[in-house]
Amino acid sequence: MSHQFVDVCNLKKHIGETVGVRGWVRNVRTSKIRFVELRDGTGFLQCVITNSDATPESYQLAATLTQECAVELSGTIQTHPKTGQPEMLVKSLTIIGGSSDYPITPKEHGTAFLMDNRHLWLRSKRQWAILRIRHTIAKAIRDFFDGDGFTLIDSPILTPSACEGTSTLFGTPYFDEGMAFLSQSGQLYLEPALAAFGKVYCFGPTFRAEKSKTRRHLTEFWMVEPEISFAHLEDAIQLGERMMKFIIQRVLETRQEELKILERDQAPLENALNNTYLRMTYTESVERLKALGSDIEWGQDFGNDDETILMNSLDRPCWVHHFPKEFKAFYMEPDPDDPRLALGADLLAPEGYGEIIGGGERASSLQYLLDQIAKEGLDEKDYRWYLDVRRYGSVPHAGYGLGLERAVAWICKLPHVRETGAYPRMMGTLWP
Ligand code: 4AD
Repeated sequence: MSHQFVDVCNLKKHIGETVGVRGWVRNVRTSKIRFVELRDGTGFLQCVITNSDATPESYQLAATLTQECAVELSGTIQTHPKTGQPEMLVKSLTIIGGSSDYPITPKEHGTAFLMDNRHLWLRSKRQWAILRIRHTIAKAIRDFFDGDGFTLIDSPILTPSACEGTSTLFGTPYFDEGMAFLSQSGQLYLEPALAAFGKVYCFGPTFRAEKSKTRRHLTEFWMVEPEISFAHLEDAIQLGERMMKFIIQRVLETRQEELKILERDQAPLENALNNTYLRMTYTESVERLKALGSDIEWGQDFGNDDETILMNSLDRPCWVHHFPKEFKAFYMEPDPDDPRLALGADLLAPEGYGEIIGGGERASSLQYLLDQIAKEGLDEKDYRWYLDVRRYGSVPHAGYGLGLERAVAWICKLPHVRETGAYPRMMGTLWP
């Protein structure tokens, strides 16, 4: 074929021209006219192969096309009279790579089967839409922080110490140094960097040996974590809210096709873009939960069901703040007005989705942190570098972590986090 190949997403600029496209056959309908639905990764295209327009060999060959075979086609681009979308009136067809007995057929398949074939499932329209939205969210996150004067600090994956409790650590032997642990959060590494750069963030994979199978928990997930100096809880909340709106706006502006494929009702996203988020203290949320029928007691952490109940009752994201410090991480600043509480805030997504951001103000007193480390049974030696932040020019500072997959799950309104990444990792899933 001698002409130019065009990405399907750009075909609107080539109406009336003869061009080439290449991709994979999603579906074929063969009667006198053969209709081929092609996907090339940038979009979907209907190709029409008729006896009169295609070469005789191409017309014959079209009858042998199978699901997921790879092809090159050339022909004239025209506008489909009903959909208004470009379609190709095919002149010639070449098969580049055959495909037989593709396991994922247009019929319904169970989740276990689809997960077992995750590497192929990625080719489906729904997964394509989700992962393109994930890409957009990840890009929006970077653009937001880069545009706001933050410096990216890549925190290490192999770490000597715990950030979010010792019960979810993945360990691996590390030469003569004993055990290393896969990072649960980059936060502790951002805090020392803060004194060098003022505003920092990290964005990368984090790991937790979550032993429960829920629709919200992965063992490997991506987290973006900003950290700001001379800042308090309120600053972290405002930053998180601005970031969320930036992300949602980007998705609504650039991913309409994908949201439509997912049949996503966009009203809740518009609501989260255009309104100030709700706020509730932990104590108020426990009262509300009790009124909604939960048996939670003050002092207990929310269960997944509690988050679902609470966030089915609210029409936009909600910050829950001032938690009992007993179930929060050791590094949180205590509330000066009530030492039972920590200056933490979680952002819960509506439509029953629950926590997508966790963060707050960090303890700035050296003695308080030493006491906390001892209380948690952690080894002070492992945290010397972290404690130095409080020894040399300690300032109030705050930050948070947004779980990328939780954000994708809510924005796409997915029933489970397993579809939010190309190769999800959960308890019981280490494949492919
Ligand atoms: O609330 P978490 O545990 O907070 C931290 O890790 C802090 N060190 C972050 C910080 O302040 N820099 O986790 C933050 C977010 C959660 O709100 C959630 O979105 C996500 O990380 N997350 C998970 N996502 C998927 N699977 C899991 N197992 C997750 N655990 C946490």
